[in-house]
Amino acid sequence: TRLAVLYGGQSGEHEVSRHSAVSILAALDRDRYEVTEVLIGRDGGWRVDGRPEPLASALRVLAAQEVVFPALHGPYGEDGTVASLLEWLGVPYVGNGVFASAAGMDKAVTKKLLAAEGLRVSAGVVLRPGDEVSPADRRRLGLPVFVKPARAGSSLGVARVDDWSGLPAALGRAREHDPKVLVEQAAHGREIDVAVLQHPDGRLEAGPPLEISVTGAGFFDYDAKYDGGAVFHIPAPLDAATTALLQDRAVRAFHALDCRGLLRVDLFLPATGWTEPIVNEVNTFPGFTSASQYPRIWQKAGIAFPDLLDILVAGALA
Ligand code: DAL
Ligand code: MG
Repeated sequence: TRLAVLYGGQSGEHEVSRHSAVSILAALDRDRYEVTEVLIGRDGGWRVDGRPEPLASALRVLAAQEVVFPALHGPYGEDGTVASLLEWLGVPYVGNGVFASAAGMDKAVTKKLLAAEGLRVSAGVVLRPGDEVSPADRRRLGLPVFVKPARAGSSLGVARVDDWSGLPAALGRAREHDPKVLVEQAAHGREIDVAVLQHPDGRLEAGPPLEISVTGAGFFDYDAKYDGGAVFHIPAPLDAATTALLQDRAVRAFHALDCRGLLRVDLFLPATGWTEPIVNEVNTFPGFTSASQYPRIWQKAGIAFPDLLDILVAGALA
């Protein structure tokens, strides 16, 4: 099968995408796939198997594939723009389509769709350029809050604010990534990721929940994600009912966004009180290095990384 891995991209997660692609390229079975590497540079320039190519010829290379494996994270990659391009080229591709990718990239839109599905999300306000958090909203949200660019990934531009005096600086940093910013009530509890995989016959499977413990004082930010400041427990120590609850919510999130192929759903499980999990966010193309949560969850469930890739590719071709 002629397959192109499309990676890099112009988002702040360019480097993360390169790492995902290295793992994917290493794991793809070369007896099954004739692989072409298509890299989008930070500057938007394209390279095919290392050679710079004008856009039109790079697109011809993509159009000539039997399937494309987009391994892009963040805006201009994971947000539906590339899915749309592949739709126009008429080439099958792994993973989420235009709508799910666009909706899943925007944390404010994601929350609306999840809430409409009856899922629990944390309270928040959306700030457009020039907007402030009103005194009433400050009282309603309480402290701490998380300030997040609406459309970014890997926690880029995300900050925890423990005192309202820190809000302007946090808003400034978030607005470097996106003029649309979300200020959210902090979700307390255990941080759990659930992977959803769609098998080629359409059946959805939710993997064993993964629990994140962040070492040190911070939250699961960019450094904790990529510099080893976090430990994953798979499966998370949970009773069977709680596991089933989390998996059910993840599958409902998959449907709420009209997903295809795969989704990683990141939740908080309150330690006490009302134990309905809070869906924090979704990732329509989650980190895909062999050390990332999504591949590791399936590894634990008995699906080795090369087999996971085969399932995703077979789903794209089904
Ligand atoms: N956005 C990063 C890649 C993740 O969710 O894993
Ligand atoms: Mg994310």
